[in-house]
Amino acid sequence: MPTVTTLFPIVLAAGQGTRMRSALPKVLHPVAGKPMLQHVVDACNLLIGTRQITVVYGHGGEQVMRGTQGENLAWALQEQQLGTGHAVKQAMPSVLKYAQDDTVVLIAYGDVPLIRPQTLQLLANSLKQSALSILTTRLDNPTGYGRMVRNNQRQVQAIVEEKDATDEQRLIQEVNTGFMAARAKDFARWLDQLSPKNSQGEYYLTDCVSLAVAEGGQITTVLCADPLEVEGANNRAQLARLEREAQRRQSEVLMLSGVTVADPTRLDIRGQVTAGQDCFIDVNVVLLGHVELGANVTIDSGCVLKNVKIADNVHVKSHTLIEDAVLGENCEVGPFARIRPGTVLGAGAKVGNFVETKKAQIGKNSKVSHLSYIGDTDMGEDVNIGAGTITCNYDGVNKFKTIIGDRVFVGSNSQLVAPVTIENDATIGAGSTITKTAPAGKLTVSRARQITIEGWQRPVKEKK
Ligand code: UD1
Ligand code: CA
Repeated sequence: MPTVTTLFPIVLAAGQGTRMRSALPKVLHPVAGKPMLQHVVDACNLLIGTRQITVVYGHGGEQVMRGTQGENLAWALQEQQLGTGHAVKQAMPSVLKYAQDDTVVLIAYGDVPLIRPQTLQLLANSLKQSALSILTTRLDNPTGYGRMVRNNQRQVQAIVEEKDATDEQRLIQEVNTGFMAARAKDFARWLDQLSPKNSQGEYYLTDCVSLAVAEGGQITTVLCADPLEVEGANNRAQLARLEREAQRRQSEVLMLSGVTVADPTRLDIRGQVTAGQDCFIDVNVVLLGHVELGANVTIDSGCVLKNVKIADNVHVKSHTLIEDAVLGENCEVGPFARIRPGTVLGAGAKVGNFVETKKAQIGKNSKVSHLSYIGDTDMGEDVNIGAGTITCNYDGVNKFKTIIGDRVFVGSNSQLVAPVTIENDATIGAGSTITKTAPAGKLTVSRARQITIEGWQRPVKEKK
């Protein structure tokens, strides 16, 4: 098998996508948290021999360019959408600049997010001695698609578009997915010969098939068994269907890696997740960005985690939000906790219900169990923060730090007015407002002494 030395994918993304009814260009609509076009570009980048990926853009050009990442991207503008053949033609100069005799061009669609790199690799490899290789699929209802027309020897003769097809041809269930591969020099020659003499007045890329056949070339096909893999999203209903399939695939990978997922239809991953063995993820959990779970981590229902690193044996209780944070082993968080960016929990730390933390270092085995706000704080080990304790870190203009030593005990409903330090082993009496250093090992209280008024009587209502 002659190996593909250089591969130049061309991704078509100039279509308007009217049916999305959106200000966002169609190809930027996300699937599993990533724009559809990025899925296709990433898949192309995994192919052996990919040199440069040319994206054909039109509508929302600036936005599409800004929204797509890749070191080897080239952009080709298609000002008017005159058909798929016209679109590819706009990209050819960027390929022919580098093309050698054996340079292969692979055509892909930017609105087909579930395409697998393995499938594209098969397609590229299948070109071998043939002139053109086409990725096809079989559909129960092929309406709207180009049909694969074969002769008696089952050799592909042409692709006929729905609108140009005879009644007999419309019965064909094998359809063109739009993904195809051929040598750059051949595409260049065929594209020059396309004419818009068809029912839609477009330059059809699919006419390359009959042109290749007329030259005596062979057409190979690769059948994609899973129609969802090659389905494009033209509206938001299709988008949702592809989203569910993307999520199903991701959950499956996670489950096969040793994670128990309570219900794969109720876990959404919009990013990358890695997990150790025997994690458990309950229903209605959303994982965003980079999420790293150790072994034996339990995430209860209704949690949202974004860019989080969690060590072994952690329990995240229900309805907890965690963002840009690191949790040490054996921690317990929630239920109903909000762990904001810059929070680092030491091993065995506990953050309970209705607690908000931000830029907070919470040392080993320290506990903030109920109804607290801990912001811009450095907290030592074995600290106990009573219910309702607030770090007052903001004076309306600037943020200040609260330093809490080891083994500190803060009584309930205290305010720590930053900048302030609570030294090791200090105890703060409940209801205190602390504005100055609380010295080590001592009890500091700052509330009015309790007094009882003798002989005081409750007012009574005057009788009329
Ligand atoms: C095309 C194929 C059809 C195939 C179907 C699969 C042609 C003539 N027909 O149909 O055989 O079954 O795809 O979905 O190729 N695009 C551009 N510029 C254009 C036109 C299209 O960039 O001028 C892009 C679109 O954004 C889209 C892709 O090409 O990503 C396919 O365009 P679309 O109009 O959906 O394809 P059809 O012509 O319906
Ligand atoms: Ca289409």
